[in-house]
Amino acid sequence: MGKLYHSITELVGNTPIVEFERLEKALHLKGRIAGKLEYFNPAGSHKDRMALEIIEAAEKRGEISPDKTTLVEFTSGNTGVALASFAAAKGYRFKIGIQNGVSVERSKLIEAYQAEITDVPKELIDGVFEKGMEAFKDVIDYMCKNEENAYPTRQLDNPDNVNAHYKHTGPEIWNDTDGKVDVFVGGVGTGGSTHGISKFLKEQNKEIKVVITQPDPEDVVNPKLDGVEDGGFHGIHQVHDENGITPMAPGNFNDEYVDQYEFVTYAETLRAIHLLAEYEGIFVGASSGASLAVAIKQALLEENTDKLIAVLLPDNGERYLSEDLQKVRPELEEKAGF
Ligand SMILES: Cc1ncc(COP(=O)(O)O)c(C=O)c1O
Repeated sequence: MGKLYHSITELVGNTPIVEFERLEKALHLKGRIAGKLEYFNPAGSHKDRMALEIIEAAEKRGEISPDKTTLVEFTSGNTGVALASFAAAKGYRFKIGIQNGVSVERSKLIEAYQAEITDVPKELIDGVFEKGMEAFKDVIDYMCKNEENAYPTRQLDNPDNVNAHYKHTGPEIWNDTDGKVDVFVGGVGTGGSTHGISKFLKEQNKEIKVVITQPDPEDVVNPKLDGVEDGGFHGIHQVHDENGITPMAPGNFNDEYVDQYEFVTYAETLRAIHLLAEYEGIFVGASSGASLAVAIKQALLEENTDKLIAVLLPDNGERYLSEDLQKVRPELEEKAGF
């Protein structure tokens, strides 16, 4: 029987999860690692899931429609790419504000899908994510000014972001591992993916351990580290310190389902990316590398012998070629503990 699709949006989700058997052997890992390859989504990242859910849930509630609504978002990249693609596929106007420091590839993709890139004054943008939700709202209010039917997609606190992963990504991991997953590793940008997946997995089996990847603060505050402009973690940030949840934690983040926070250095991130390319022929982006590094460290632990560690890999390395993510840097990477 034929299988003719009618929209690119029908191809979102059902991404493959792959066990990294050659990597396990090469590093003599005690645990097993399976990576969920989210770059198989049609616009290239896990953000496709939430972009589609946010649009379609609002459509079902009767809040938006292509003939009258303008979608509005301020985003560092992958969300913008996903929203731009699906806005085009569904016939919506989409206004986007872009954060400083976005990879050239991602901003050019947004341009390709013909989203309307809006200039937001520098004083509103500077440090907006660090300042927290109020500053973010000011940016969105600015972008919605003079728009009659603007619908801010609000990735940071829109529950439909979490729902996308609770309804789909979590169940896919559970089903594709036959319920055998023991540990889940993911990072936090908006918190949507990790929160939705963890909630679903813990509801199936509360013994599943959830480990959150956090960029080492040293590597983030030393932006000139070995020529890396912004610490290079792209998409994830620290949400927990010794005093608990930090002001950078977005509205969608909830630590109810978190068992452990694990710091990862940029050296470990690069090493993980290059090992995956070398042994598995898979080239992922920096947030994926960071979570993979955490998964590798988990898989080296005696307590995780024969355990299955599932790790979310949000996008692929082609989105960061302009930043030389592919380049092996032996002096830096030998500092990694694996
Ligand atoms: C490449 C990348 N990885 C990870 C994340 C974090 O995912 P989430 O927003 O679901 O927490 C993002 C976005 O925020 C991202 O663009």
